[in-house]
Amino acid sequence: MKKKVVSLLLAMTMVATMAAGCGSKDDSKDNTSDTTNDQNSGDEDKESTPDDTADGDTKSDDATDGDTKSDDATGGADLADKKVGVCIYQFSDNFMTLFRGELENYLVSLGFSKDNIKIVDGANDQGTQSGQIDNFIAEGVDVMIVNPVNSSSAETITDKVVNADIPLVYINREPDKDEQKRWEENNWNVTYVGCDARQSGTFQGELIMDLGLETVDKNGDGKVQYVMVQGDPENIDAQYRTEFSVKALTDAKWEVDCLSDQVGNWQQDQAQQIVANALGQHGDSIEVVFCNNDAMALGALQAIDAAGRKVGEDIFLVGVDALSEALENVISGKMTGTVFNDHFSQSHSAADAAVKYVNGETNEHYIGCDYVKVTKDNAQDVLDMVSGK
Ligand code: GAL
Repeated sequence: MKKKVVSLLLAMTMVATMAAGCGSKDDSKDNTSDTTNDQNSGDEDKESTPDDTADGDTKSDDATDGDTKSDDATGGADLADKKVGVCIYQFSDNFMTLFRGELENYLVSLGFSKDNIKIVDGANDQGTQSGQIDNFIAEGVDVMIVNPVNSSSAETITDKVVNADIPLVYINREPDKDEQKRWEENNWNVTYVGCDARQSGTFQGELIMDLGLETVDKNGDGKVQYVMVQGDPENIDAQYRTEFSVKALTDAKWEVDCLSDQVGNWQQDQAQQIVANALGQHGDSIEVVFCNNDAMALGALQAIDAAGRKVGEDIFLVGVDALSEALENVISGKMTGTVFNDHFSQSHSAADAAVKYVNGETNEHYIGCDYVKVTKDNAQDVLDMVSGK
């Protein structure tokens, strides 16, 4: 079921390149960044028991994998005795909650014992996460799956883990190209699993463009006035979504006018505040609100509702992830659209890669997946899929 729906949805896939948000961005940058990041100091090694996992269907029937349980992954070592250390950048992140829940379910379905899968919360603090990685090394885990707090810390993380002779699968936050080159050149057992954020940005732009300029350009000035709400700026997903959503419009020769471009750190409450302020300042001239993820789009929607504006009538709103609540809003017309960030495919590919390493096999150093554009037309199908119907 999942596989069929996703393949159908994927038929709409299209990719493109480059452009800008409010300020112009450096197009040449290849997913690198500085280390500025908001850091909540966290408690130590909080372990997870994700209760809100996406579903119990642990078959690898997603967009990129085969049909059944790890066609290529099991066989070989007895996985029940193998230990997996999983570091998540922050448990409170909605999307990563879905991801880790599915990851755990799927690892168990492959034969790992639940007791041997340890998932820890980095609490958005690189220092905390580094300590957790040290602990996993000391415990002698057989493989590590890491969602780095700062992608720019990947070099240090890789060095530690590789020196300890433990294979490493990065997820969700892509280390830069130089770092990936080191894995390749040194033949290290290190890989990255994730989707190309440029595609998700392009899809967001297309969701707006598909409405037609006459519909979107409410004030008829021939331009699209928009507000951009960004995720964590250190993160390549935030950078590319910001850039490519707008590029899709400018590539189609639409004129754009950025009224506000602020950082909401992937969080609903921050986005609500940002969009409330923007609406207070720019009022009816705002025609489109782009949010780098759905959690922030939900916050934007609260602000839009409070300002008495109506999505689909006098303003348009898009996000990324396809959280259930966002999908319900797309179905009821309260969001223009979203982009499915396939946590099934990503978590299954990450687990399959981990198993291959444990079995002494190798992996490609980059394992990709596709996003899916979601409108009112397919939102119910996607909702059924993510809720396991
Ligand atoms: C993105 C996702 C966001 C947030 C972020 C964390 O892929 O869309 O919602 O989870 O990852 O790095």
